Amino acid sequence: MKTLVTFFSASGITARIGREFAKTIEADVFEICPRVPYSDADLDWRNPLSRSNMEKLEGKKVPMSGSVPDFGQYDTVYLGFPIWYEVAPNVVYTFCREHKWAGKKVYMFATSGGQHGMGDSAEKLAPFMNGAKVCGAKLVKSAAELLEWRL
Ligand SMILES: Cc1cc2nc3c(=O)[nH]c(=O)nc-3n(C[C@H](O)[C@H](O)[C@H](O)COP(=O)(O)O)c2cc1C
Repeated sequence: MKTLVTFFSASGITARIGREFAKTIEADVFEICPRVPYSDADLDWRNPLSRSNMEKLEGKKVPMSGSVPDFGQYDTVYLGFPIWYEVAPNVVYTFCREHKWAGKKVYMFATSGGQHGMGDSAEKLAPFMNGAKVCGAKLVKSAAELLEWRL
């Protein structure tokens, strides 16, 4: 069975860590992309009317583009995302809803602007991965911190 590293990343930090980790462990990579890409203005979390803020406030389902080819071939999935408004971005929820998780081992990793941990972002997302076993979740600053899970 195979391992997948998948992530959403708006400004590239989570993507850099995810790609480096995937290369080290020789896993496949899938980048989660919203169907409509975010502009810089969309990501302005200080603006209450920005797209990201409105999506969060209104609990919008953000469509993603495509899906993982043959998701069933993976028994282990590393899922990365930036913390947005203290939780996973809505498009990551879409990703979870649109894939079948039964029997998979899942590790979640996040990056954030702050120094805190993941808060309850992993606990909130886990119910959307029906049948998955969550084996770990942590806030990271480097791919090396993810390698600790492989020891
Ligand atoms: C819309 C938005 C909301 C954010 N909310 C938070 C937050 O609640 N807490 C935090 O520590 N950082 C927050 N950040 C900062 C990101 O989590 C951080 O910059 C992250 O590393 C970006 O990852 P990326 O480059 O993969 O998109 C937010 C960033 C954006 C764009």
